[in-house]
Amino acid sequence: MLRAIRFTTAGESHGRGLVVILEGMPAGLGLDAKTVAAELGRRQLGHGRGDRMRIERDEGEILGGVRLGETLGSPIAVWIENRDFENWRVAMSADPVPEADDESLRRVHLPRPGHADLAGLLKYDREDARDVLERSSARETAARVAAGSLAKSLLAEFGVTVGSHVLRIGDAEAASAVDPPSDATQMNREADASPVRCLDPTAAAEMMRAIDAAAAAGDTLGGVFEVVACGLPVGLGSYVSWEERLDGRLAAALMSIQAMKGVEIGAGFLAARSPGSAVHDEIEPDRSRTASGGYRRRRNNAGGLEGGMTTGEPLVVRVAMKPLSTLMRPLDSVDLRSDEPARAVRERSDVCAVPAAAVVGEAMVALVLADAMREKFGGDSLGEMRTNHEAYLERLGRRGGKA
Ligand SMILES: Cc1cc2nc3c(=O)[nH]c(=O)nc-3n(C[C@H](O)[C@H](O)[C@H](O)COP(=O)(O)O)c2cc1C
Repeated sequence: MLRAIRFTTAGESHGRGLVVILEGMPAGLGLDAKTVAAELGRRQLGHGRGDRMRIERDEGEILGGVRLGETLGSPIAVWIENRDFENWRVAMSADPVPEADDESLRRVHLPRPGHADLAGLLKYDREDARDVLERSSARETAARVAAGSLAKSLLAEFGVTVGSHVLRIGDAEAASAVDPPSDATQMNREADASPVRCLDPTAAAEMMRAIDAAAAAGDTLGGVFEVVACGLPVGLGSYVSWEERLDGRLAAALMSIQAMKGVEIGAGFLAARSPGSAVHDEIEPDRSRTASGGYRRRRNNAGGLEGGMTTGEPLVVRVAMKPLSTLMRPLDSVDLRSDEPARAVRERSDVCAVPAAAVVGEAMVALVLADAMREKFGGDSLGEMRTNHEAYLERLGRRGGKA
């Protein structure tokens, strides 16, 4: 999925903390921990989040790969402390605690339908579902958002911005899709001001009512969010091999987020119901648009991708999230100690995490786009990458009208 950039996360939900190592960034990129903290803070927002978000208040500490505010070209390591670890010292101790009982070890034997508990326990041959849920938990997405914030900093150097907003929570739906802005950070400013990150205030009020009703019923809700990237040049990704197609790489990255069950690019599933004449985006010259090769589309049903490559139009991707599987009124399951019927465990949980998931979606999109930019423009330093980028734009500019 990622080719020129790689990242690995480690850490458990209630362990000491999370660490992410990001490789493949050029030297000379200005970075500071405040950027990472700001993005981590955005992931913690949203009506419907659980108590955890009040405890954590994440900050990222840069442990390596950056000196005097600039990247060195070496792997970048970021550490995110789990402040809640204080309450989990025994249960999440790395060393054995022979005298501890099941309760202080917070063992789990009632797997939740819809979570990784049962399949993970059987796969890894564990007795305690905590061994599974600590890592399958979406706490891990904090590390992805930290890596994504670094990718966003690189993209910003090339005028590329990534934003998101929520389109649906349960049955409550935003009135209509918004026109992509020329700068997605503006979209984020507006979305972040809404408790559900929705740009339609009437729908936002409905979404909050739906979340409150689900919470009162001991239930949970999913929804749909959209990620938009602006300022991309034509020609990132490629049609030449299946694994180079940017649409496939984006879909894989987004589907890898916990609880995501569908990805649409541009008109997506709607395009499958419409005739070609209503779907395909007509082309016309526009010499002012160098990064698109001097052409524009009259609309953007393709969501900024044709043949697995960027067209220079805004990238538009929608993602469907299922309702969370930890219910305060748990569903039927089995007690793994006896195989007798029992209700699933009640672990502290969110009611709805779609607004936060949208921020994680931005991070994954930013990582895929930064990867595609590194692939196309290469360079060991930011300066070298910029020179290559400028040469490409210059070539696109020279072509104008004589293709
Ligand atoms: C930002 C975010 C927060 C989440 N919070 C919770 C939660 O509080 N409770 C829960 O049961 N699942 C939560 N999930 C979803 C689970 O992590 C996910 O359903 C689980 O790992 C199983 O994976 P799957 O749904 O992809 O099959 C969250 C997901 C995201 C992206």
